Amino acid sequence: MKNEKWTTADIPDLTGKVIIVTGGNSGLGYESVKAFAQNGAEVIMACRSVEKGEVARAEIMKNKPNGKIKIMPLDLMDLSSVRNFTDKFKENYNRLDVLLNNAGIMIPPYGLTKDGFESQIGTNHLGHFALTGLLKDLIVKTPKSRVVSTSSIAHKSGKMGFNNFMFANGNGYTPMKAYGRSKLANLLFIYELQRRFEANNINSIAVAAHPGVSQTNLMRFIEGKFYYRLLKPLSSFFLQSAAMGALPQLRAAVDPNVQGGDYYGPNGFNEMKGSPVKVKSIPASYNTEDAKQLWKLSEKLTDINYNF
Ligand SMILES: NC(=O)c1ccc[n+]([C@@H]2O[C@H](COP(=O)([O-])OP(=O)(O)OC[C@H]3O[C@@H](n4cnc5c(N)ncnc54)[C@H](OP(=O)(O)O)[C@@H]3O)[C@@H](O)[C@H]2O)c1
Repeated sequence: MKNEKWTTADIPDLTGKVIIVTGGNSGLGYESVKAFAQNGAEVIMACRSVEKGEVARAEIMKNKPNGKIKIMPLDLMDLSSVRNFTDKFKENYNRLDVLLNNAGIMIPPYGLTKDGFESQIGTNHLGHFALTGLLKDLIVKTPKSRVVSTSSIAHKSGKMGFNNFMFANGNGYTPMKAYGRSKLANLLFIYELQRRFEANNINSIAVAAHPGVSQTNLMRFIEGKFYYRLLKPLSSFFLQSAAMGALPQLRAAVDPNVQGGDYYGPNGFNEMKGSPVKVKSIPASYNTEDAKQLWKLSEKLTDINYNF
């Protein structure tokens, strides 16, 4: 409902739950780690910089949360790092209640991941596809577990462009096209994962969320630009806080009323700000042919097979 007011006060007791948050040291990820730990969960902050993770954890620990926070290194731009992360995780944990695929980069200049993927599709989609696939066995054996991915309003301009999926050699690359593609991929992935959970009678669910437009470190690639500096003083008019922006993904991760395949975002004008409610993504995100094609391609590129 449009006037719902779901807040962190609605988060249930999470004692005994194990939650991974990618990119947990900054922005929406940081706010999510904080809220999960406050409510008793054991949270794994998966960060590419352990040092930044330590700083973030120290800040959260000042509030004496009920849960534990563990930092584990994860670089989504490097599949060997994703494998190391999941190997170590499985050595230490035998359940995974929530995998929050939150980390992301936005509009960098054309670049490649360590495995040669265009950097935005590589980080935002393929890294998380690999991570989820390698953790699938633990996810499906944890009752009512959830996979949540953070998409964006920018998915609306996304086109999959399978004939030049990676903008080979920078051909056709614009930072916004690649970002839109990666955020549409997040939704195609989540909806397809949900369909596969259902087809295999697995009671885990896959859910998506987006934060509207929130004040975080995501703008790092345009901070030096003239237009950014010009508009910055006005930012508080159109941006909401990271804490508000994290609410849709928090709700997607823990609200018992959420269902597989749901998509949560803010309830304000153009979904830019506000309280988290169920929202709609564009029809292209429900295209089952594109979802299957993306899945097959992602398995091939990452060399990770979900076996369902
Ligand atoms: N802020 C918004 O308005 C907005 C709008 C729509 C969608 N989103 C989405 O929200 C998510 C979170 O972004 P944010 O706004 O909170 O931005 P942020 O403050 O920049 O946080 C992004 C996080 O992702 C991490 N990250 C980036 N590349 C990574 C990699 N290769 N491996 C592991 N972690 C990596 C960053 O680590 P470092 O700190 O080491 O860089 C950071 O912890 C993203 O998926 C973004 O697309 C944000």
